[in-house]
Amino acid sequence: MEPKVMDKKAKLLVDSQELELTMVEGTEGETGIDITKLREKTGTITMDSGYGNTGSCYSAVTFIDGEKGILRYRGYPIEELAASSNFVEVSYLLIHGHLPSKQELESFQYNLTHHTLLHEDMKKFFEGFPPSAHPMGILSAMVSSLSAFYPDAYNPDSYDLNMVRLMSKLKTIAAFSYKKSIGQPFIYPRNDLSFSADMLHMMFAVPSENYEVPKVLEDALDLLLILHADHEQNCSTSTVRMVGSSNANLFATISAGICALWGPLHGGANQEVIEMLEHIKKDGGDYKKYINLAKNKDSNFKLMGFGHRVYKNFDPRAQILKKSADKVLNLLGVNDPLLDIAKNLEEIALKDSYFVEKKLYPNVDFYSGIIYRAMGIPTNMFTVMFALGRLPGWLAQWKEMKETPGIRISRPRQVYVGSPKREYVPMNKR
Ligand code: CMC
Repeated sequence: MEPKVMDKKAKLLVDSQELELTMVEGTEGETGIDITKLREKTGTITMDSGYGNTGSCYSAVTFIDGEKGILRYRGYPIEELAASSNFVEVSYLLIHGHLPSKQELESFQYNLTHHTLLHEDMKKFFEGFPPSAHPMGILSAMVSSLSAFYPDAYNPDSYDLNMVRLMSKLKTIAAFSYKKSIGQPFIYPRNDLSFSADMLHMMFAVPSENYEVPKVLEDALDLLLILHADHEQNCSTSTVRMVGSSNANLFATISAGICALWGPLHGGANQEVIEMLEHIKKDGGDYKKYINLAKNKDSNFKLMGFGHRVYKNFDPRAQILKKSADKVLNLLGVNDPLLDIAKNLEEIALKDSYFVEKKLYPNVDFYSGIIYRAMGIPTNMFTVMFALGRLPGWLAQWKEMKETPGIRISRPRQVYVGSPKREYVPMNKR
C-alpha cells in the first residue's frame, strides 16, 4: 500500500533556505507533498485549520473525487454497490478488501448473527439512563463499556473476533437504547433474520404479538447502511484513527468515533435536517425565507443537509437517496409534506448564486432523514442509524492503520499565540 514516488519534486523556500520535497501519487492521480522532514530541516511547521489540505494517511479503503461526485469502496462505485450488493457484503468488502466468496460471506454472516447477544449484566446499564437520554450518548457509553467484558481487545490475535462482536452488538445496543427511551421491553436478536431486518425487528416488535419486518423497510435500511458505510478521512474516521493510534482498545476507539459523528456538522445533521424542515413547516412553509436566512451571515442559520467539505459538484449518496425517498414513500403510502419542502429548498438552492458560487449541494443527510421518518424511526435515532452504517468503515480504517508498518501516534503541532513567559502572582497580589 505504498504510494508512487513521482519524478517531479516540490520546492519550498523558507526564508532563504530552499527545500526539495518528495511528491507522491495515488492510484487515481491524486498527488501530495511529503513534508515529514519539514520541521527537522527548517524548524517550521505547516498551518492548516480544519485539515483541508492535509493528508493524514495512505489508504486503500475508499476513493472520493469531490469535484466529479465519485465515491468508491475498494474500487467499486457506490451506485453499483447500492444497486446490487447488501450491507453485510459491503462490510466484508470494506474490512477485508475484496468481495467475499460464497463461503466467506456465509461464514461472516454466521459470525455476525452469533455474536449479537449482550452480556446480561449490560442490560442493567440501560436502567441508569433517564428516558430522555439521547441514544447517541447511550451508544457511545455502551460501546466503551464492551471493553470491560472483552479485555482481549488489545490483543492483535483477537482483532477479527472483536470487530465481528462490535458489528453484531452495535445493532442490539442501538435497538435496546430505543426501547429504553420509549419504555418498552427489550426484544432479543433473531438469527434467522438479515442484519437490517434483525435491527428493525428489535426496534419495532413487542413480546405480545408477531411482527413481520416489511420487505420495503428492510431494503430501505440496507440501502441507507450501504451509503453510510465509509467516507474516507472524515471527522469521525479521523477520530478513530487518532484515538486508535495511541493503542487504545477497539471499543474505546470506536466509542470516540461515535461521539465525533454525533455533532450536527457531521452525522448529527440528519436529525437537524428534519428538525429544520419541521420548523419551516410550522412557520407556514415559507422555505424562501430560510434560503435568505442561510445567506445572511448575521443569522448564524445554516441550511442543514447542504454543503460538504469534499463534494463540490454533487454528493452521489444524496442522488441515490433522493430517488429512494420517492420510491420508499410511495411503497409505504406515506405523503410527507416535509419531502415537498425539502424538494423546494433543493430546487431553489441549486439555482441561487450564493449556493452555486460556494458549491453547496444537498448531502447524504438531506434525504436520509425523510426516509427514516417514513420508516417510523424516531428523529433522535437517525444518527444512531448512521453510526450503525459507518461502523464497517471505521473498522476497515482502524484495521488498515493497525496493519501499517511503522505507524506513529497521531500528534499534530501548534503555533502558540498565548502570553509570553510571566511570573506567578500570589493570590493576595492579584
Ligand atoms: N448553509 C449556508 N451556508 C453554508 C452552508 C450551509 N449549509 N455550508 C457552508 N456554507 C457556507 C459557509 O458559511 C462558508 O461561507 P463563507 O465562505 O462566506 O465563509 C462557505 O459556505 C464554505 O463553508 P465551510 O463551512 O467553510 O465549509 P466546510 O467544508 O468547513 O464545512 C460542512 C462543510 C458540511 C460542515 C458545512 O457545509 C455545513 O455546516 N453544512 C451543514 C451541516 C451538514 O449538513 N453536515 C452534514 C455533512 S454530510 C454528512 C457527513 O459526512 O458528515
